[in-house]
Amino acid sequence: MRTLISNCSGRAIGTLQITALLSMGLTGLSSAVAAERWYTTEQIEQGRAVFQEHCASCHGGEAQGLVEDWQTADENGRYPPPPLNGSAHAWHHALPVLRRTIHKGNVELGGQMPGFVDKIGELDTDAAIAYFQSFWSDEVYATWLENSGPVKVAEEKVEEAAGGRDTAAVTARLAARLPRGARLGPPEQTPIGGVYQVKAGNAYVYLSGDGRYALIGDMLDLTTGENLTERRRAGDRLGLLKGFPDADKVVFMAQGEEKARLDIFTDTSCPYCRKLHAEVPQLRNAGVTVRYLPFPRGGTKGSGYADLKAVWCAADRAAAMDIAKGTAQGRLGDGDCDAAGAVDRGYLLGQQVGITGTPAILLPDGRLQAGYLPAKQLIELLGLARAR
Ligand code: HEC
Repeated sequence: MRTLISNCSGRAIGTLQITALLSMGLTGLSSAVAAERWYTTEQIEQGRAVFQEHCASCHGGEAQGLVEDWQTADENGRYPPPPLNGSAHAWHHALPVLRRTIHKGNVELGGQMPGFVDKIGELDTDAAIAYFQSFWSDEVYATWLENSGPVKVAEEKVEEAAGGRDTAAVTARLAARLPRGARLGPPEQTPIGGVYQVKAGNAYVYLSGDGRYALIGDMLDLTTGENLTERRRAGDRLGLLKGFPDADKVVFMAQGEEKARLDIFTDTSCPYCRKLHAEVPQLRNAGVTVRYLPFPRGGTKGSGYADLKAVWCAADRAAAMDIAKGTAQGRLGDGDCDAAGAVDRGYLLGQQVGITGTPAILLPDGRLQAGYLPAKQLIELLGLARAR
């Protein structure tokens, strides 16, 4: 990981954690938490009735099977009805295969299982499957899920939806692969066929259409040189920033004509924020307006928290910021007012934006400069350096 030497780091959140989350979800589902089942308890109840009426006579009322030696064929090579409660073979079959067996039966294939396509509809078929799967242990279910569960079903759907445009199917597949707590955005197609971009937490990951392979990294367009992932992140940041009203920022207006604006997440207790603050006059002279957002990097327990609140409660916030950052003498008032709520909101927003330390400087195009940069360099980054 990159070492940030020019900022004050907060608590580590972000990519690393997501990577761990993903690798856990993508490799060890069966060994991890019990997988969430695809069906509801209502479906089990509905399926119980269906099963008693149509299936129990051969497979047993609790899908336990009625013939002990279900693995031995008779002299005609036919097998008795097997248990469907997870003790036999049924978990080898993907959902569409189970549905097909129930609808069409196996007679055509030389078996004895009758087809039910004329007797029970699709919903009752699924309910019957839900019923006998409700007897499966978590272990059996997880094995099924991993090998042939809804993941495979979704795959079929994607193939049907020519070109794999069925993003709902990709979502379903991912939800099946990933641990429950994962915050996933909707999958989007990328310029690379069959590769989807998904937002997981604050990070973007790329997934193969079958949800099996994940790429963690940035996607570059080598013809234009553009970092497509970063462009997305920049857009996300600007979108998030819109949720924080300008009136809640501490603003240092450009001198004369305003040429650019910087939004800077700051913590009064951070030495690099103070260093940058001392150069704010230089920025203002160059036509840059600085708008501060509060980011108490230690959260509510950090030393900056109380001071930031005091700044936000002050009648003249800019003057209070100067005092808090040591560029002016004076005393801070108290931080007990409604406006202090902005400090908590700033902290939340910073986390959503993916900020881990201060100062964090957002450029007008959404680029993020993590850590201190001298004013001169910032002015260059903004394209405002005076042409020679
Ligand atoms: C007349 C007896 C009979 C009835 C009724 C019956 N089945 Fe079957 N089923 C079988 C037999 C026999 C097999 C074994 C495969 C074969 O030879 O067809 C089987 C196999 C299956 C399988 C595949 C199991 C595996 O391990 O491969 C499923 C799933 C299944 N049945 C579900 C049902 C459901 C659900 C119903 C009710 C809607 C039902 N069956 C009703 C006789 C029956």
